[in-house]
Amino acid sequence: MSQTMDSKTSDRKWLGLYDRPHRDLREFLERAESLGEVTRVKGASWDLELGALAEIVNHKRSEAPALLFEDITGYPKGFRVLSGSGNSSKRMALMLGFPMPRTAIDVVQAYRDRMKLHKPIPPTTVKHGPILENIDRDENVDLYKFPAPRVHEKDGGRYIGTEDLVIMRDPDEGWVNAATYRVQVHSKNSTGLWMSPGKHGRQIRDKYFKQGRPCPVLVCCGHDPLLFLAAANEIKFGVSEFDYAGGHRGEPFEVIPSEIHGLPMPAHAEIILEGELTEGDLHTEGPFGEFTGYYASPSSEQPVIRVHRVYHRNDPILTLATPMRPPSDMSFGRSIVKSGMIWDAIERAGISGVQAVWCHEAGAMRLFNVISIKQAYAGHAKQVGLVAAGCQAGAYLGRFVVVVDDDVDPTDLFDVVWAMCTRCDPALDIEIIRRMWSGPLDPIIPHGSPVNYSSRGLIDACRPFERIKDFPAVVGATPELRARVAAKFADILNKI
Ligand SMILES: Cc1cc2nc3c(=O)[nH]c(=O)nc-3n(C[C@H](O)[C@H](O)[C@H](O)COP(=O)(O)O)c2cc1C
Repeated sequence: MSQTMDSKTSDRKWLGLYDRPHRDLREFLERAESLGEVTRVKGASWDLELGALAEIVNHKRSEAPALLFEDITGYPKGFRVLSGSGNSSKRMALMLGFPMPRTAIDVVQAYRDRMKLHKPIPPTTVKHGPILENIDRDENVDLYKFPAPRVHEKDGGRYIGTEDLVIMRDPDEGWVNAATYRVQVHSKNSTGLWMSPGKHGRQIRDKYFKQGRPCPVLVCCGHDPLLFLAAANEIKFGVSEFDYAGGHRGEPFEVIPSEIHGLPMPAHAEIILEGELTEGDLHTEGPFGEFTGYYASPSSEQPVIRVHRVYHRNDPILTLATPMRPPSDMSFGRSIVKSGMIWDAIERAGISGVQAVWCHEAGAMRLFNVISIKQAYAGHAKQVGLVAAGCQAGAYLGRFVVVVDDDVDPTDLFDVVWAMCTRCDPALDIEIIRRMWSGPLDPIIPHGSPVNYSSRGLIDACRPFERIKDFPAVVGATPELRARVAAKFADILNKI
């Protein structure tokens, strides 16, 4: 059943190694393990060791295996933590039902092909599911039951929600948002929740508070990585991440209404907390080492979730995303999706000629985005750069957008820097756009700023359009000459 990326991906939904989507995180893990994509680690402590191991492994090599932590110190044998669920081309292809890729751009392209046919599929409501295997109510709630890690040495506490889904219902329109926001354990039955200004969850929370009502919320802390993919990316306001992820799956997710607030709980999830936020009920949250590689925002007073129910499977798996100086256990997977979304946004804006997009891990998946184009007219590169910097997928906490010609590989930093150094005249080809959407996690914004603006640098590293024909020729052997000489001297070359 295995296929390669040469297959057309546009006329079928699920083209992966298996003929149907995985049922849940556990089946996904089995499949990933059979491809050699999972490493089991026994005996690590929740206190700093999970985070440090994730850092060591992901700094050692790109597309490192997922880490399944078992026998965590001080916890029952079955309670596990998974880091890096979707952080490689193969795991992304497995998750999304794509053929096995040869390169990262293959996955980006498959994602885009999927999006051309993608229709949101709303979840179906069911009565039973493994998430109901254990329910802790009221005074029996104890969040320390789970091996929530203290991730980095300077963190303000333990974080149960990193690769999580924070699920809320819009009080006016009734649609359900599911987003990844960090969730710190404050006590056995309360957590903090940090949402950046402008994020959908924060807009929804503020609507409840304006109406003088508490904001009901679920925090799902272990689930199908496809739900995390949807929750961690900027999907249009009003579109539920459940529907979006269902559209990728080709079939609906099953959900069960939660006991107190009737919010949808993924039936096959691992751990879910249910509670509410009340205006004025605050607690110190953070600091937390973040994805830019900095502790950019200090601790602050943030709303508290009072937790009244905990639902979990037997032997639950907590999913962990470990923000750090990149690369991290989530940076590769996020680069793929962000690249696909920005590429789509440029095309939807009516601009042709884009050859590839890559949001570099070194730029924490947001701050250094490169687009290669086949230049068709004067101003083409600038137009592409403006849309990439301003579209919904690319606007938040951005920094540099670089546009290169189609002979430059946007995934190769060496190639990109060479193009910047040779085809860009800074005085003519760098534009600064001021006061764009950012947030308190942007290290360039001073602590306590009343607003979170930062600027963007658009770098046109394409050959000047009017000189395309007479721009100095690139030095390098033709493919034919290279192939002939490489074949003739294969003995020597194979030893180098
Ligand atoms: C591991 C991880 C943790 C994140 N933590 C936060 C967070 O604590 N607060 C926040 O505002 N955004 C956070 N984000 C970014 C949001 O998940 C992302 O912007 C998402 O699109 C927000 O959903 P929304 O568009 O429904 O608001 C995080 C992303 C990832 C991948």
